[in-house]
Parts: sequence; C-alpha cells; structure tokens
Amino acid sequence: MSAPLPMSVPLPGLPESVTIYEVGPRDGLQNEQAVIPAAVKSEFIDRLAKAGLEWIETTSFVHPKWVPQLADASEVLASLGESGRAHTRPVLVPNERGMDRAIEAGVTSIAIFGSATETFAQRNLGRSVDESIEMFAPVVKRAKDAGMWVRAYVSMCFGDPWEGAVPVAQVVDVSRRLMDLGADALSIGDTIGVGTAGHVATLIEELGSSGVGPELIGVHFHDTYGQALANTVEALRNGVTVVDASTGGLGGCPYAKSATGNLATEDLVWALQGLGIDTGVSLDALVETSVWMAGQLGRPSPSRVVKALSGG
Ligand code: HMG
Ligand code: MG
Repeated sequence: MSAPLPMSVPLPGLPESVTIYEVGPRDGLQNEQAVIPAAVKSEFIDRLAKAGLEWIETTSFVHPKWVPQLADASEVLASLGESGRAHTRPVLVPNERGMDRAIEAGVTSIAIFGSATETFAQRNLGRSVDESIEMFAPVVKRAKDAGMWVRAYVSMCFGDPWEGAVPVAQVVDVSRRLMDLGADALSIGDTIGVGTAGHVATLIEELGSSGVGPELIGVHFHDTYGQALANTVEALRNGVTVVDASTGGLGGCPYAKSATGNLATEDLVWALQGLGIDTGVSLDALVETSVWMAGQLGRPSPSRVVKALSGG
C-alpha cells in the first residue's frame, strides 16, 4: 500500500495547530440559487461536525427578504437540537430583531458583520458605517450580558468592487470600533478575494499596533483570484491561528458583486496536513460531504482537492 499524501513537511514559523471556522452552511448556502430544505442544511452541519469540524457557523438571523436562502434559520436550529446551541455554533445577527430570533432559537454564540467601506455598508445593511455600528452596539451588549461569545466580521478589508482600494487605516478603524463594542474575536474578510500576501501581513501588523493582536484575528478569504491559500499561509506566519473556510468551496455574498466561494475547507486541510499542522479534521469525510452536497445543489464543488480526491 502506498503512503498517504500529502507528505508532511513542516515549515518553521507556523503554528502547531489551526482552528478551522467552517462557514459553508452560512456563507456557502446564502448564495445558492437552489432552495435547500432545512433538513438538508441540518444534515450538512451534522456531517461537518462528524468530519471533525469543531466550529461551524450554522445560519443567519438576517431579514428573510434580504437573504431568502436562510429564511429558515429557526427551523434549522430546531432540527439541530442541543448541538446547535453550543458556543461553537455561531449565527449571524445584524440587529435587535435578529437577536430576538436568535435568543428564541437558543443560540449562545453570534457574529455581527460590519463593513470597512460606506458603499458595502449601504448595500449589505442599508446603513452607513456609523449607523451600522450603532445598530450592532445593543446586539453585542445583550449578547455579552447573556454570556454569549461574539465575533465581529469586517468586510471589504482588501478592496471593494465599487470603491476600489481600501486604505488599511480605514479597515483598522472599523475593526477597532467593532472590537470596542465588546466583541471577543475579529474576522477580516476579503469579500471579493482581491487581497495578496503582503497586504495580509500589513493589515495584521497594523491591527496589532492598534491593540488587536493575531490571537484575536480570524482570516476570511474568498478565492476569486486564487489567492486564498497563499494569503492564509501568510496570515499563519503572522501569528493567526483561526481560518475561515467553506466545505466544497461554496460561498459568496449576494450583496457583493464578484464575490465567489470561500477558501475550500478541503484545500485548506490538504495544505495544513502537508505542513504537519493539526486540524482534527478527516479529509475523506469532508470530500464525501462535498460530493453529497454537490448532489443536493445540482452542481459540482469548485474545490480542486474535492475534484482530485473524488475523481470528478
Ligand atoms: P432593514 O430593512 O433596514 O430593517 O434591514 P429595518 O430595521 O428597517 O426593519 C424593517 C422591517 O424588517 C421590520 O418589520 C423589522 O421587524 C424587520 P416591520 O416592522 O416593517 O414589519 N426586520 C427583521 N425581520 C427578521 N429578522 C431580522 C430583521 N431585521 C428587521 N433580522 C437588515 C436591515 C440589517 C436587517 C438587512 O439589511 C439585512 O438583513 N442585511 C443582511 C444582508 C446579509 O445577510 N448579507 C450577507 C451576510 S454578510 C457576508 O456574507 C460577508 C461575510 O461573509 C464576510 C465577508 O465575506 O466579507 C460575513
Ligand atoms: Mg464571506
């Protein structure tokens, strides 16, 4: 029998283990044309957990008209039962109405999602950057009072399809303001996948100078220009140990033109295994899940690793 691939060859300066923050059921499915039944969504989440993923963002309590794909959030949570209420199962919550719904569903972990740019704040949240931070403030307060874990996303950190280049200082300012609301962790989003490695290193360094160290940062790379994995390794070299990924490479934002899928979890696990970095995830089980999900969605996974390992 041949030895398993990839060969494990460590690289100095990288962490011993990485936490994968799985966003497939939320970021992946929010962008699908097909209507996916709640039972399929909860089976997807169960399969991901069985594959060894600890952190899974399950759904969004956003306005159902804004994201009809996730309008069944309460139903998905109900069918997950106790497991959906763990602090390792965050949901997106933009406002107090969303918070009411999340509390009713029993969640204990939430994510707010701001924008580094004015145009995307208006398009994604119907508000300016300042107004959206005002909208998040009571959400974070209620969450913290209830003992919840809170993540703060910042979108368009590396470029914006309407505004072009986004100054690093502007990203740091919005990140700082969201963390100052009381969030426990930050996720820096390359919503349209335009970032490159030097830019990633600079942003992490500047965030560190503003008091948001790499131990608080997760990286959220969409793979539009094929840079997600290179950018991830650069983030790891700069002390980050939380990486967002989406099984099968599903994903995108319906309110951001040119946003494609997230970094595929399988591509990430392949790279990390090769670097000898522990993830606790079974690549075979993930690939099997993506092949099953592709059947549900009626289209093949865009992940290279899924294609290679499934013979597709
Ligand atoms: P709005 O229309 O401005 O809301 O939406 P409003 O406060 O004016 O309220 C209007 C009505 O909507 C009211 O009902 C509210 O109760 C109701 P009425 O009194 O008229 O009967 N309402 C709600 N109902 C259910 N759930 C709610 C809710 N909120 C209000 N949560 C809002 C404002 C923020 C809700 C809207 O703009 C929205 O839902 N936006 C979310 C868009 C979205 O989900 N985008 C994708 C996620 S972000 C992303 O993918 C990026 C990320 O992956 C990182 C990256 O890649 O960069 C995270
Ligand atoms: Mg995203």
